Formats: sequence, C-alpha cells, structure tokens
Amino acid sequence: MTQTLRHLVSIDDLSVEEIRALFAAADRFAADPRGHADLCPGMISASLFYEPSTRTRLSFESAMLRLGGGVITAAEMKQSSASKGESLADTVRVVGGAYSDVIVLRHPSEGAARLAAQYSPVPVINAGDGAHEHPTQTLCDLYNLHVERGRIEGLDVVLAGDLKYSRTVHSFAYALARFGANIVCVPQAGFEMPEYVLCRLREEFGVEPIRADARRLGNLASDSDAVYLTPQKPHQLSLFTDARGWEVEHVDALYMTRPQTERHGGAELSEASYLRLEKRSMAVESLRDAVVMHPLPRRDEIDSEIDSDPRSIYFKQAARGVPIRMAILGLLLGRSDLGVEPPAPRPEGVAVRVGDNPCPNPACISRTETRHVTPAFTLAGRVPLRAHCAYCSRELTFEWVGCSSTGHYHAPGAGDLRRVRPDHLVFFTDRGAAEACGFKPAARSRDGISAGSGPA
Ligand code: NCD
Repeated sequence: MTQTLRHLVSIDDLSVEEIRALFAAADRFAADPRGHADLCPGMISASLFYEPSTRTRLSFESAMLRLGGGVITAAEMKQSSASKGESLADTVRVVGGAYSDVIVLRHPSEGAARLAAQYSPVPVINAGDGAHEHPTQTLCDLYNLHVERGRIEGLDVVLAGDLKYSRTVHSFAYALARFGANIVCVPQAGFEMPEYVLCRLREEFGVEPIRADARRLGNLASDSDAVYLTPQKPHQLSLFTDARGWEVEHVDALYMTRPQTERHGGAELSEASYLRLEKRSMAVESLRDAVVMHPLPRRDEIDSEIDSDPRSIYFKQAARGVPIRMAILGLLLGRSDLGVEPPAPRPEGVAVRVGDNPCPNPACISRTETRHVTPAFTLAGRVPLRAHCAYCSRELTFEWVGCSSTGHYHAPGAGDLRRVRPDHLVFFTDRGAAEACGFKPAARSRDGISAGSGPA
C-alpha cells in the first residue's frame, strides 16, 4: 500500500471522522491485543525522547511490538549526539532514513515536532513538544470518553490544575471544542489557560469563554477564575447566566493535571496550595457520575484514597493508550485504510523574510534551533494585522510591518496592509529596525493609520 507521507504534529492533523474510525480500530485491538502481529511486520519505530516519559514511550513501543514491528529507542537523548551539539533536524534525517519507518518524538521546545516533520523522510508523531501539544495523549483521552460515556458531543468536561503549561490540556481543549463538548476551566491560580489557546478556540471553533460559577464543585474550585467554554451560541447562554456566570451543576468528566514544575522556570509553586481531589471533593452532587481522568504521572493532586472509587478511571485511561496508539501507527504507516477523509490541509506557515523573528516565546523551536528553522507565521487577521508563529502557535508581536515588494513599512493597523501578499510581509520590532533594513515609511493611508502618523 503506498500513501503520501503523513505526520501527527497537532490533534488538528486528524479529522473528526478519522478520530472516530481510530476509536473503532482501537476497539478491535483492545478486544484481541495479541491478534494483530501481522499488521506491521518488518517495520521499525524509533523513540526519540529528549524529555522523561514512562507511559507515552512504553505504550508506543508496546503498540509497535503488538503490531509485529520492532522498536529502537533513544530514551535519554542527553546520551546521544544531541549532547555533542547535533541539531534536531540532522538527527531526524538520519534516524528517519535507513533506521526506522516512523519517529515518535518528545522534545522540550514548542514546535519541535513541526520542525522534525519538515526534515524527516518518515512520519513524525508528536509525543509532546514543551508546553504546546500532546496529540496522542488527546487521542487516548478522547477514546476514554468514547468508551466510558459513549459520546463526546455535549459532554461537560472540567479541566483542572496547571492549564498554562499542561500540553495535554491544550490539545484536549482543541479536540473537545471540535467535537462539540463543553469545557470548564478550573485553573490553579496563576496557571490559567494561555491566551493563545483561548484565541485559537475562539477563532477556529467559535468558542467564546464566559465566566463560570464553580461553587458546586466544592473545595476543588477557587471559583473566581473558572471559565466556561461552549460551542453554544452566546445569545442562548445569556438566558441562563447572571453576574456570577454560567453555573457548573453537572460534570461528565473531571480531568486533573499535575503542576508542570519543569516548565515553571524555577518559580516556586507551593504544592500545599495546589488543587487537590480528595474523598470529600468527590462527595459533591455535581460530580455524582463524573469520571475522573489524569494523563499521569500524578503527584498529590489526586489523593490515593479515591483510587478505588469506581469513578476513578486514570489507570484504565493509561492502559487504553496501547490500542489507540496501535491504531495511529497502523494509519501513519499506511497499513490501515480508515476509509474516511483526512482533514483539509492546514495553511502552510509563510516564512518570515528579513527583519526580526517576531515570535516572543523563548521556548519556541524557532528561537532554540536557529540554524535549521526559518521563522514562519500563519495569518490570523488582516487589519489590524495579526499572525501566529507557525511552530509554537503564539501570537506574534511586532510594531511595524513591511512589504518586501514596495519597500514600505506600515503600522499593523494600516488599511494598506490588506493588499500586501502574505509572502511579502516583513515584521519589525521598531521603526529603527525597519529603516536599518532599507524600508521607508508608507505614505499616509486613507484610514489615517500609517507609519508616518505612528500608532495611536
Ligand atoms: C503528560 C505529559 O508528558 O505531558 N504525561 C503523559 O504523557 N502521559 C502529563 C504530565 O507529564 O503531566
């Protein structure tokens, strides 16, 4: 079977129909885990892990072995040539050549999997890129909802804990929105869902955040910061909300996350003040028939006292990681035809030409692996001009925008920018940088906002 090269970098690389078909395949693998060793014989998966892992790496390796394939592992990349200064781009070109048929990559830099996919001759699977995304954990989480609840549409799912740095939460939120589930964000204070994630939920899925009243979640909620995200139309919601916001009365799934301290940059978070799910938390009416999920590993955020509660499914959740990863390997290796359409291709990032790298995120691969990454962006809006980093999805920051064809620079709100081709855009952090690159101020545009007048 031949197929075009496909990667799994973001959960958006799979259509809703494909995800449902992967559930059906995973059901078959789960029903007979030892009966599918004829699917990938002779194929090799390479685990490239630049960060620690237990479940993700071992469940992928177990999945490949159960499909009849083999695995090679670089689980401790500090002992590899990366410690000699080898770039990720070079590593995946070598590992994805003669050595393997698929690469499973975990890396601390956001956007690393996208970069690897640009250089790898074989499919790249993102097993977590910094705080950005973790699409196969999301497949596992969705599969668990499908098995436990029979549907995802219309479910009320609480995401709790470190929503800022938990990559599992970001990919899960995109997928829940796409499936039409409602999301209640209950963050640890100071670790709210990042603005760039909310922005994407709003722009791509029409999901508007509204304030949520989470008193009924008992001691779990520091309710002032809770947010309700729903695909329902805001005018319908206004019938049910008051100044306290949407009242969370019933929960189908509660998804806890640990503090992602390795990404807190040394800033201390008192473990004692972190959200904690205990026996008494589980007694509240709103959680009466909620399943409790966690991507694991946990620290103290779920008391071991509730492990025996039938609503706690986190160990089953981890076990289901194997059949769903068998399904994804079968698809990307071209060994299973799901018989459904993949998503329409996402717009390729447009390379940033001259000027500065406008990505403000120090953890972005465009800042950490500068030898092989050409900074790139996707356009989010024309006037004012808004763009996201094509690697880490952050909103870009710039004061001035040039057109490489006319050699003029403009303020981001200038109406003239509507006419500039995306591949002619150049970003500058200040006017001096634009002039140093030989750009001249644009004449005052009709809407009065131009480089000449400066931003208001
Ligand atoms: C998660 C991860 O690595 O992001 N773990 C996992 O893959 N199951 C969650 C975490 O580490 O907190």
